[in-house]
Amino acid sequence: MASAPKPRRVAVVTGGTTGIGAATCRALQGAGLAVAATYPDDDARAAAFTQETGIAAFKWSVADYQACADGIARVEAALGAVDVLVNNAGITRDSSFAKMRPEQWREVIDVDLIGCINMAHAVFAGMRARKWGRIVSISSINGQAGQFGQVNYAAAKAGVLGFTKALALEGARSGVTVNAVAPGYTDTDMVRAVPADILAGIAARIPVGRLGEPEEIARCVAFLCAEEAGYITGATLSVNGGQYMA
Ligand code: CAA
Repeated sequence: MASAPKPRRVAVVTGGTTGIGAATCRALQGAGLAVAATYPDDDARAAAFTQETGIAAFKWSVADYQACADGIARVEAALGAVDVLVNNAGITRDSSFAKMRPEQWREVIDVDLIGCINMAHAVFAGMRARKWGRIVSISSINGQAGQFGQVNYAAAKAGVLGFTKALALEGARSGVTVNAVAPGYTDTDMVRAVPADILAGIAARIPVGRLGEPEEIARCVAFLCAEEAGYITGATLSVNGGQYMA
């Protein structure tokens, strides 16, 4: 007798309607998963994304613990239990440290680091109970190497790497893998917001000779989310055109 078909995995991608997040949603959808994207504010852009891809978009801030718990409950009511979490949501508030205001580090730490923790807490117990899960968080080359003007962002993205390794230990016995992808400078709205002369100087130092494409990051995330990736945990996959070799 043929074995029962495997259930369709359900994935949530935070910040999933633009940039690396949108490319990741598409990659996971292409791999056969049911995908939900989260977004913080831009309803029109989210509606256009859903119209174009058929991927449902849910609005909440990852910085808000209760909103994450409630949001995951909404996703699970719509699609089923969450098997895959991609912590992609991130912001920058670049400034040299001497000029940086407290709200600039609080906002970045709240979204880029606490957001990963809030989201993971909403899905981790269920993944462990079901003995299968994938959590992939987007760190950054600048969390590995540091970057002038990004004390806040580098701290948050380095924090993501510590979060990943510690949670990987807690998920390992239950089939829950926890990994990070550390992109370099990728062609997104976030990177295009860097002043053109500064970005040109950074791009000139990328050995591959160009910015990354969101799809090049997304395929790494999808690789780590695959059924066959169960022996990879606590890892950081650097995808930066050779700019920093960790
Ligand atoms: N290293 C050393 N010194 C530097 C420097 C650097 N990289 N960049 C600037 N400086 C110096 C300047 O020469 C200047 O020196 P003087 O005062 O002696 O003339 C001084 O620092 C300027 O300091 P300011 O505080 O006035 O800096 P600013 O206001 O002109 O600009 C900044 C600061 C906004 C942070 C600007 O440098 C910047 O935008 N840098 C790019 C930051 C960056 O790469 N962000 C990445 C965003 S994308 C992303 O984050 C995605 C990802 O994961 C990769």
